[in-house]
Amino acid sequence: MNYIGSKLSLMSFLEKIIYQVTEYKENDNFVFADLFAGTGIVGSRFKQNGCTVLSNDIQYYSYVLNKHYIENSSPIDNSLIEYLNSLEGIDGFIYKNYCMGSGSKRNYFSDYNGRKCDAIRQNIELLYKSNQINTNQYFYFLASLINSIDKYANTASVYGAFLKHLKRSAEKSFSLELLPIIDGCNRGKVYNKNINSLISTIKGDVLYLDPPYNARQYCANYHILETIALYDNPIINGKTGLRDYSNQKSEFCSKRTVEISLEYLIKNANFKYIFLSYNNEGLMDLETIKKIMSNYGKYEIFTQNYRRFKADKNENREHKASSTAEYLHCLTK
Ligand SMILES: C[S@@+](CC[C@H](N)C(=O)[O-])C[C@H]1O[C@@H](n2cnc3c(N)ncnc32)[C@H](O)[C@@H]1O
Repeated sequence: MNYIGSKLSLMSFLEKIIYQVTEYKENDNFVFADLFAGTGIVGSRFKQNGCTVLSNDIQYYSYVLNKHYIENSSPIDNSLIEYLNSLEGIDGFIYKNYCMGSGSKRNYFSDYNGRKCDAIRQNIELLYKSNQINTNQYFYFLASLINSIDKYANTASVYGAFLKHLKRSAEKSFSLELLPIIDGCNRGKVYNKNINSLISTIKGDVLYLDPPYNARQYCANYHILETIALYDNPIINGKTGLRDYSNQKSEFCSKRTVEISLEYLIKNANFKYIFLSYNNEGLMDLETIKKIMSNYGKYEIFTQNYRRFKADKNENREHKASSTAEYLHCLTK
């Protein structure tokens, strides 16, 4: 998934530094927590490497993706994929509210793809409620739907706005593609909480923190994926059909609250090693982070240059540099 702040292209940097600082080796079984999990790429990698992974995100679509990546393991019966893909489209919530043909005035998906998404989403729920699929299959299919439908969205990159005319990838007919199953250590657990209410209730060896870097709220930028995941017929508002996200606003997206929240996290973390990803354009500067973390143990910092996220180039943001410096702040408590 093309996700703001995805660590896909920084994975080898993260792995290298995390193993170097902790002196753990690949295939060691330690408890690794990825508590701003997003797409789940970081936790998945450490699961593959043999860790017991604890995963968390405040967004429900992320919870669904991680329930699949972290808690599922092969084999999982996927024989219903053909049935799901053969379903006739229906006029459900997505079509009625986010496609032009319904008169919604919103152009997030083609009519065909919006109706198809509704049919598949409703059927996954029906199959689960009637015990025709188990919990593992439920999250396998649902995570696959979230990941697949994103490729057909008629947006520049995120769901903060739709394009006037259907772009080429949005015109293609939707087909549900299954996500890979990540095999590794199967003792992981996934949460869907605000990190600050979770942190003191868990413990482990390595805590990886990848909070939002700036004021862009994930709940607003991915509101349609949230609605597809929850499928809860929310009241929606405005030109883009936003659901209420007051409970999911992140303290890490506000200059006023970010430092207090980080300090609370570091202080209450029952982990020997803490790693924090942040870049040179975030709400907190380097010195602030260093000061907060150094209060709790031995502090080090590592840097890597990083290509800018696609949305930054499209949204009239006047960025001069095409790359940013990514920092990995490390604390041994
Ligand atoms: C930078 S992204 C993480 C990206 C992820 N590492 C990846 O590679 O896909 C930050 C994530 O933190 C989540 N988030 C923001 N505030 C949170 C909070 N207070 N508690 C839990 N998750 C939060 C967002 O929903 C978002 O998915």
